[in-house]
Amino acid sequence: MKNSTTKKTITDNTVDPDILSYTVGEDPVLDKALTVWDCMGTAAHVTMLSEMKLPRSIVTKAEAAKVRKALGAVAAEAMRGEFEIRVDDQDVHMAVERVLTERLGDLGKKIHTGRSRNDQVAVDVRLHMKDEILSAETETVELAKALSRFGAKWGAIPLVGRTHLQPAMPSSVEMWATGHAEMIADQIENLEAAYRLADINPLGSAAGYGVPLPLDRQRTTALLGFRRTIHNCFAASMARGECELALLSALSQLMAVLSRLAQDLIIFSMPEFRYFTLPREYCTGSSIMPQKFNPDVLELIRSKAAQVLGLQTASASLLHAMPGGYNRDLQDCKWLYMKGLEITRTTLRILAKVVDGLGVNAESCRAAFSPGVFATDVALRKVAEGMPWRDAYHDVRDHLERLGEENADDAVRAKKHEGTTLGIDRKVYAARFAEIAKGVKARQAALAKCRKALLGV
Ligand code: ARG
Repeated sequence: MKNSTTKKTITDNTVDPDILSYTVGEDPVLDKALTVWDCMGTAAHVTMLSEMKLPRSIVTKAEAAKVRKALGAVAAEAMRGEFEIRVDDQDVHMAVERVLTERLGDLGKKIHTGRSRNDQVAVDVRLHMKDEILSAETETVELAKALSRFGAKWGAIPLVGRTHLQPAMPSSVEMWATGHAEMIADQIENLEAAYRLADINPLGSAAGYGVPLPLDRQRTTALLGFRRTIHNCFAASMARGECELALLSALSQLMAVLSRLAQDLIIFSMPEFRYFTLPREYCTGSSIMPQKFNPDVLELIRSKAAQVLGLQTASASLLHAMPGGYNRDLQDCKWLYMKGLEITRTTLRILAKVVDGLGVNAESCRAAFSPGVFATDVALRKVAEGMPWRDAYHDVRDHLERLGEENADDAVRAKKHEGTTLGIDRKVYAARFAEIAKGVKARQAALAKCRKALLGV
C-alpha cells in the first residue's frame, strides 16, 4: 500500500495510469542515453547554487561536494548500464532526484532548486548531442579515409565517367572514390553548424522565465564547457528542438550523400558492369534463386536515407506551429534526433566496412571505354592543332563513326590539372582529414575534462 503522505512521488502525481504511460512514452528508455549528461548538468547547477551569495545558503559548498560525489556514482552506474529509470519516475530527471533523495536524504531534495525539467532536459540533450556529433564526425572521416585508401590502392585504373548515367568522359577509380570521399568529408561542415548551435547553454532558464534567485548562468556555462550562454531565458526554452532539427538536417543531407555512394556501388557491381566486386559475405541470397548475391546492405542505405529525411521532416513539422514557451510536444524531438543519429552512425560504419571489402575488376573497367568516351578529348586535340572549339566539336559530332579505339590509360594520364584524373593530390585529403580529427579530439578532451571535474568519471 502506498502511503501518500510519507511516500510522495516527486511531483505528487495523481495522473491516470493510461495517461501517464502515454505522456511518458519512451522516455524511461531514451533517457538512459542522457543520464550521465543529466548528472553533469545537475552537478554544475548545484555547484553554482553553493557559490551564490545569499544571507542563508541553500546548499553549502560541502553539501555540493557530497551531491557531486553522489551524482558521480549515479553516472558510473549509468555507464555500466545499471541505472534504472522507472515509469513512475517519468524521466531521467526525476529518477536521479529520487535516487539522490534515497541516498542523501533532505540534501537530495534541494538539487532541483531554481530549476525546471525544461532547462534540465535542454542542457542534457545539448551535452549528449555534442558528444554524439563528435563521434559521428570521426566516423564520417573514417569512411572518407576508407574511400581514399580504396582510391589509392586501385590508383589510375580507368573508369568511364558518366553523366545522365551515359558514358561521358575518361575518369579513374581514384577520381570516383576520392570524389565520394570529399563529398562525405564536406558534410562535416553541416555537422559543425549543428555542433555550434548545440554548444550554447540553456541552463538557468528554469521553466523558460528564470527564477527570483541570483543564478550565475555564466558559471554553469563555464563548468559545462559551453562556448556561450543562451541569454534570454524565454529563448532558451524555445531553442529546444531547434538544434535537434539542425542536427537532423545535417544528418539527412549526409545520409543522402551516402545513399548516392550506395547507388553507384549497386550499379557498378551489377553483372552488366562488374567494375567493382562486393565480397560474397557482404551479399545476401534469395530463398528461391540459388544464383543470387544481392547488395541488400546498399539498398537499405537508400531506404535509411529516406527515413532520416522523414525524421527531419517530422521534427520540422513538430516545431513549425509551436507556441512560445515549453510544450510537451518537444519531448518527441528527442527520439527523432536520437534515431537519426543511430541510423546515420551505423550507416557510416557499415559503409566503411563495405568500401574496405570492395574489389576492382580492371578488365571490365577498361572494356567499358566505348570510342565515344574519347570524343571530347579528340575534339580538344583538334583545338591544339589550331581549330576553334565549336568547329572541332561539330567536326567530331558530324563524324562519330570516325572515332576509333583509344587507350583509356593514356586518356587518364592526359588530364593533369587540379582535381582531375592525374591531378588528385592525396596530400590535400590527408591534411584535411587530419585537421578534422585533431579538432574532434581536442573538443572530446575538453568535454571529458569538464565531466571529470564535475563527476569524477
Ligand atoms: N521528459 C520531458 C521532455 O522531454 C521533460 C520535461 C518535462 N517538462 C514539463 N513541463 N512537463 O520534454
